[in-house]
Amino acid sequence: MRIVLRGGRVLDPSRGLDLVADVVLEGGRVSRVGPGAGAEARATDRDTRVVECAGRWVTPGFVDLHTHLREPGQEYKEDIASGTRAAAAGGFTTVCAMPNTKPVNDNRAVTEMIVARARTDGVVRVHPIGAVTRGQEGRELTEMADLRDGGCVAVSDDGRCVADAAVLRRALEYARTFGLVLVQHAEDPILTHGAQMHEGAVATRLGLKGWPRVAEDHIVARDLMLSELTGARYHLAHASTRGSVALLRAARDRGLPVSAEVTPHHLMLTDEAVLGYRTACKVNPPLREEADREALIAALADGTLDCVATDHAPHANLEKDCEFAEAAFGMVGLETCVPLLLELVRAERLRALRLVDALTSAPARAFGLAAGTLAVGAPGDVAVLDPEALWTVEPSRFRSKGRNTPFAGRSLRGRVELTLVGGVVAFEAGPLGDPLR
Ligand code: DOR
Repeated sequence: MRIVLRGGRVLDPSRGLDLVADVVLEGGRVSRVGPGAGAEARATDRDTRVVECAGRWVTPGFVDLHTHLREPGQEYKEDIASGTRAAAAGGFTTVCAMPNTKPVNDNRAVTEMIVARARTDGVVRVHPIGAVTRGQEGRELTEMADLRDGGCVAVSDDGRCVADAAVLRRALEYARTFGLVLVQHAEDPILTHGAQMHEGAVATRLGLKGWPRVAEDHIVARDLMLSELTGARYHLAHASTRGSVALLRAARDRGLPVSAEVTPHHLMLTDEAVLGYRTACKVNPPLREEADREALIAALADGTLDCVATDHAPHANLEKDCEFAEAAFGMVGLETCVPLLLELVRAERLRALRLVDALTSAPARAFGLAAGTLAVGAPGDVAVLDPEALWTVEPSRFRSKGRNTPFAGRSLRGRVELTLVGGVVAFEAGPLGDPLR
């Protein structure tokens, strides 16, 4: 089968490309890229599909380093079938699945089950992330070699911090030995005990217990020192504070092997969004203040925060339609990520190529994945999006089972139209934006 994506704006940061060109896929791989590369193809040719992409962006499929697929164990929130369909609808062709499932992905049997289920039920590539400690309890290290051999690409206790410095030091040494990246959820649990949202004026007005920036900052400071000591690859999950940004910038300037991600919600919202006790805005780490948001945007623009990751965290309605203190932390993100971030591009806060880099080449590099590029011979993982298409977020139409988004009713400009994984259609929007597949 040959697919010709003709005449789109091809953005491929892995090779610094931003030009109007054709992308041709053959046998599931990228076979040619360039102006006129698919010129001779006709829609009537045997085994050929020609997609006219004038006015569209054609990019490598997006890579999400931080997805909660909830399978095994919490399929009422999401499963591999629904989560990967949500990913495809958002232009993602690779997702890395966090281990806070039930049971926790802390051993090879769970890893292998996820890999097998992704093969049968998934429509995008799924790479499991294994736990750092057994049961994510922060004490005993997992068998990282086994996790890696089963298919894990990184280790993390996400949802919880590896808070004990001695445990983290050993974990970094192990991770380094086995070629795994350690992904830290930076939150000092002593400083956030019972906390509900960012510590500041809004928390005071709402009478909610606050979560200080320093709970993140001092863990990041310590971790960067331990990463230097051990020489291990360290990746900071969902950076939320200006302090984290400053620490990362200094670490990068010193050449430490660190990477970091920022979520769309920390880039687009502040703690003000929580006013009215909006549980949809209850996330971990919490939405911060405008000065933090500004620092995160600037750091994404200059590459200090090299990756965007969604922290797609689906929950059932009952877990959000309740008192604020009882509500679960998290929001869904896969289906709104790129359209939201296009707002930063239109506001000239972020260059288009940097945004695509943060969603493709940078995350692939951070975890050492063979993804996020349209280089000839690479897997045919591609997203086609119309940057001008207008639509309104209606959670009931999500492919995710999760409806927990604060962006319901928001008008967005920019929409994914076609997602290909290995040259196979994983998602295609119909004329009205409804999914065909
Ligand atoms: O908001 C969050 N939800 N942050 C996390 O770290 C975990 C996640 C979840 O699993 O629901």
